Amino acid sequence: MSLKNVRLEVMQHLEKDVQSLIEKYLIPVEKIWQPTDFLPDSTKDSFHEEVREIRELSKELPYDFWVVLVGDMITEEALPSYESWLMDVEGVDQIERNGWSTWLRHWTGEENRHGDVLNKYLYLSGRVNMREIEKTTQYLINDGFDIGTGRDPYKNFVYTSFQELATYVSHNRVAKIAKQKGNKQLAKMCKIISGDEMRHHHAYSEFVERIFAVDPNQMMMAFHDMMKRKIAMPAHFLRESGESIGTAFEEFSNTAQRLGVYTSNDYVDILQKLIDRWEIGKMTGLNEEAEKARDYLMKLPPRMYRLSERMKIPENSYQFKWVDPA
Ligand SMILES: [Fe+2]
Ligand SMILES: [Fe+2]
Repeated sequence: MSLKNVRLEVMQHLEKDVQSLIEKYLIPVEKIWQPTDFLPDSTKDSFHEEVREIRELSKELPYDFWVVLVGDMITEEALPSYESWLMDVEGVDQIERNGWSTWLRHWTGEENRHGDVLNKYLYLSGRVNMREIEKTTQYLINDGFDIGTGRDPYKNFVYTSFQELATYVSHNRVAKIAKQKGNKQLAKMCKIISGDEMRHHHAYSEFVERIFAVDPNQMMMAFHDMMKRKIAMPAHFLRESGESIGTAFEEFSNTAQRLGVYTSNDYVDILQKLIDRWEIGKMTGLNEEAEKARDYLMKLPPRMYRLSERMKIPENSYQFKWVDPA
């Protein structure tokens, strides 16, 4: 049987449990938080006062902080790209109402709230240039999404396991900074988003675990291939208006690195967490190729830690069109 057919069979095998995985990892609409729970209620007379308070507190936060919050928001807002990409993965059938596509729709529904709440907050903060931000979001959706996973479900689940943990780290750090600066409301908002990302991370990691149980050799190869080529962030095509594809991404990641919100060290920490979680080092009975892949993966974190120590980050803020100088 070809590798592709095996993957389809594995996806169909796992699909039987999709409903229970949705119940385990996702929260029903009626129970989950909504953006307005964390924002001023515009039907109330207190609205203006609450907005005034948001604008006052916003002044306490530094330039780089706003850049990171904007970049995080745009990453969340490009969700149409991620959903359409994942809908096309082998074994995910859009027409099938009770299978993988149901998982994806429910996951998308949860994710959609993240961009929503951040967008509204940024709009009210008075600290950012919304029109420039909106243009970047539209560009990012136009430019599409290519993370080197192809339509392979194994690689895509490695990607999402990694990426959900990365977004957990960054939203959680943003929450900490906001809290330190006395902005409790923003801290609460980012904290609750990071909680969603952690749940999603556990879900995708369990999918990978389940694949390891039935097709360990190919799952190992997929993990190896993804880490060898490095995980590209969902916003790696990020650009500002008038610039070419991807130009803003490097400066955005430098900013996140400078602020300590998401660093190259975090990248390696996440890799190490995945290796531990999937007990890569304990896997035996593999074929020769997968054994080599396992050994490569086990040696990768120490190698990458050494590299990340040597990395230099520009000290000065880069001037984005999204945020006017403080
Ligand atoms: Fe998210
Ligand atoms: Fe998520």
